[in-house]
Amino acid sequence: MNGFNGNNFGEGDGAKGVNGFSGNGVNGHNLHSGHGNGGGNGSRSPRRALITGITGQDGSYLAELLLAKGYEVHGLIRRSSTFSTGRIDHIYDDPHWENANLRLHYGDLTDSTGLRRIIEEVEPHEVYNLGAQSHVRVSFDQPEYTADVVATGTLRLFEAIRDYIAISRNSPKIYQACSSEMFGSSSPPQNEQTPFHPRSPYAVSKVAGYHYGVNYREAYGLFISNGILFNHESPRRGGTFVTRKITRALTRIKLGLQETLFLGNLDAKRDWGFAGDYVEAMWRMLQHDRPDDFVVATGETHSVREFLEEAANVLEMDWERVVEFDPRYLRPAEVDALLGDASKIRETLGWTPTVTFSGLVRMMVEHDLNLAEREQVLADAGHVMRRQASGDE
Ligand code: NAP
Ligand code: GDD
Repeated sequence: MNGFNGNNFGEGDGAKGVNGFSGNGVNGHNLHSGHGNGGGNGSRSPRRALITGITGQDGSYLAELLLAKGYEVHGLIRRSSTFSTGRIDHIYDDPHWENANLRLHYGDLTDSTGLRRIIEEVEPHEVYNLGAQSHVRVSFDQPEYTADVVATGTLRLFEAIRDYIAISRNSPKIYQACSSEMFGSSSPPQNEQTPFHPRSPYAVSKVAGYHYGVNYREAYGLFISNGILFNHESPRRGGTFVTRKITRALTRIKLGLQETLFLGNLDAKRDWGFAGDYVEAMWRMLQHDRPDDFVVATGETHSVREFLEEAANVLEMDWERVVEFDPRYLRPAEVDALLGDASKIRETLGWTPTVTFSGLVRMMVEHDLNLAEREQVLADAGHVMRRQASGDE
């Protein structure tokens, strides 16, 4: 569980992990660095998955789903000077344990040598490419870096898998995380036939990743499915995306821990679903008999203002008294309206969302109210500073 600041409440110094074992490595985790047998000392699991972006929102839900289905799950993790494993601490096993089913490997989508080594070591049956610099606003500040990770990083991964297939008898299925941002200014509703008109360096890079997927399918026969996912949120959503920024700030304001919430464009409309539902769609795409492209969405759209209203209603607050406009959160080019038509995945793979818009908002508000209450206890006891919430990029 993340604290308000992205830290783990009650976390120690990193010498001891959340599971109580001590050791080196990230957050007390011993990262896998051996060879050949990635699943402990026993025989290898018949179903192995590799997830890039395992420390992110979607990666954590997907890892949970795959572990529950009996997969041996391997995750690519970036070296960081601070802990980045908060979302997966609860499912992490000590790799010294023979039956550990979740393994982490240091790697980066900008490092092709490492990607090749990890793929040869893990020998995955399924690869989920979720790693990305995923913040649209930040992509305007860091366009080259975003392209390197999101576009070229995807290409590096596909090339590593293509070479692995040539030297092994294994041919992994690949899920490529595309985005509804690729539709950009194309009018809603958007489906698999809608033309792309990307409006940010992030979206342009995702379009490149999409086309690399189609091209490697056609040219080399790789099983690559492109998931064109519309916005999906959860209590694990990063704090600088608008939904989580709102639910964190309103709950803190409610408890007197913060005074103001600064936001940009309240008129933008998004098709918001629950991340837990969307990782199920990713998995279903790789169980299909052939690779394809699928839109994943709820078919409902709401403005940022409506999200604010819904969250404030749950808290019985008047949001207009606490929200202020800050132009720094505007984007040089905005995506005004996204609304997905997910008929294809519903009819082909039987996928439908289970969480409604109001259910999603309530889930996030209740989670963040609980976090704020814990923060308040710590603040009252003098263990943490009372502070205005951190801003947004
Ligand atoms: P997220 O929470 O921002 O997670 C991104 C993940 O990518 C993190 O694990 C991050 O690692 C990792 N990462 C960043 N740079 C990397 C690099 N250079 N090499 C390897 N890994 C790197 O994103 P998310 O919401 O889970 O989204 C997952 C994927 O779906 C992303 O590709 C995103 O663009 C795409 N997508 C998301 C949505 C949505 O609404 N959530 C919709 C459509 C598409 P750190 O933890 O170290 O930062
Ligand atoms: N982040 C943010 N912060 N957005 C704000 C704010 C603010 O203070 N105020 C208004 N917004 C508006 C943005 O201008 C945008 O129109 C909308 O809220 C949603 O912004 P985000 O939550 O940052 O998400 P996004 O739609 O730009 O991108 C997310 O969804 C994409 C799928 O459509 C990300 O998860 C992308 O990685 C993903 O591909």
